[in-house]
Amino acid sequence: MAVKVVVGAQWGDEGKGKIIDILASQADLVIRSQGGNNAGHTIEVNGDVYKLHLIPSGILYPNKQCVIGYGVVIDPKVLISEIDGLKSRNITCDNLKIDPRAHVIMPWHIVLDELSEKARGSSDIGTTKKGIGPCYMDKAERTGIRIYDLINPDILTKKIKLHGEKKNKIIQKVYEEEPINLDEVIENYINYGKILKKYVADTFLTIHESIKHDKSVLFEGAQGTLLDIDVGTYPFVTSSHPTSSGACVGSGVGPTLIDEVVGVVKAYTTRVGKGPFPTELCNELGQEIRKNGNEFGTTTGRARRVGWFDAVIVKHAVRVNGLTSLAINKLDVLSGIEKLKICVAYKLADGTITQEFPPVLEDLEGCTPIYEEFEGFDEDISRCKSFYRLPESCKQYLSRISALCGCDIDIVGVGPGRDQSLYCK
Ligand code: GDP
Ligand code: IMO
Ligand code: MG
Repeated sequence: MAVKVVVGAQWGDEGKGKIIDILASQADLVIRSQGGNNAGHTIEVNGDVYKLHLIPSGILYPNKQCVIGYGVVIDPKVLISEIDGLKSRNITCDNLKIDPRAHVIMPWHIVLDELSEKARGSSDIGTTKKGIGPCYMDKAERTGIRIYDLINPDILTKKIKLHGEKKNKIIQKVYEEEPINLDEVIENYINYGKILKKYVADTFLTIHESIKHDKSVLFEGAQGTLLDIDVGTYPFVTSSHPTSSGACVGSGVGPTLIDEVVGVVKAYTTRVGKGPFPTELCNELGQEIRKNGNEFGTTTGRARRVGWFDAVIVKHAVRVNGLTSLAINKLDVLSGIEKLKICVAYKLADGTITQEFPPVLEDLEGCTPIYEEFEGFDEDISRCKSFYRLPESCKQYLSRISALCGCDIDIVGVGPGRDQSLYCK
């Protein structure tokens, strides 16, 4: 059985949740291995909508094992409310395991995320303000609090006092804001630990046992390749590695164990938060696509920026992740647009034309996209049941995307539902 990694190949929100949900029907184990509740994965099943932030999308099937690996940063309050929300809809989380090494998002991470964004003024990153960056900062500084600490009240109390006092000094002295009440934090977090204790297990062993017994294993990426802290549009990125290699690092699986890497994209591009976006459409057409595609953030509700499909960034993602196939969502949203465009290269500020993703932000910011134009389509394709029945212009558009990006397309999404995916093979 296969070990598959699913990653976002643009700037996030590509519809990974939906693709995971489809692929999870064939999987035994679904794993989240990086990011935190900055992610928002939407799944539609028979008209019911589920929005998941931390729990792997496989949870909607009663018989799948789900794992939150140690590369994830966990806000326990959010996780508990997600578990409760699912329970209230008759979805059990008994098959969820959380690794004791995963780091915990503390109240000061959220406060510091907000304060540092405010202090950046107009140069803010546009983070989700969920405390993700500050939590990963403490992990790298080796002062983080982990799930193991959370479920051990004595250790937790000591660590909250030690690190919390230092964070309060920063909040008071650097940002001149009110300190956090650490006694309250201790009480709340001991309680969270009590609730979550039953889910804690060495997930490294769970994953390797599954692979050894030839089970089908699926990694659910969060965010997108262009938000990777190294290969993305730094500093307008998240603080983890939303790439296939990030799945290895965040779960303890070596790269030779991975059989397939699926890159999820939209048939156009979106981005939420700040940072360069060469193909952005700051016009009426952009607004129309935003409206038709309901492009508003699952986590923060912010309007997503919208633009043409950019083959330069997706080709970059194909190589960074070693993609074996692409899943293209939201083709239905482009219906009714007379001419479609794909960015095939960039013209840099000095006039050089390149098909490569520039390594530094300064080059990317100054570039102008070079487009190829395609006939659009008018048909409502949301009920189309076969790839071969798509309008000819759709097939040409997809075929050019595949050629430019150097990757086969296996799945085409024509709507948010489980049954609105077309298979190209
Ligand atoms: P994720 O973070 O990558 O899982 O993506 P999000 O859930 O944040 O955003 C994708 C949105 O597009 C969700 O509202 C999905 O229900 C929706 N969606 C996914 N695939 C399709 C599709 O093929 N067509 C349409 N119209 N909507 C889709
Ligand atoms: P899913 O998994 C889209 C963006 C934020 C911001 C930057 C840094 O739903 O695709 P952070 O809070 O991580 O420090 O914010 O990253 N971002 C996302 N954009 N989808 C996501 O997740 C994102 N997670 C973070 O908007 O630009
Ligand atoms: Mg999302």
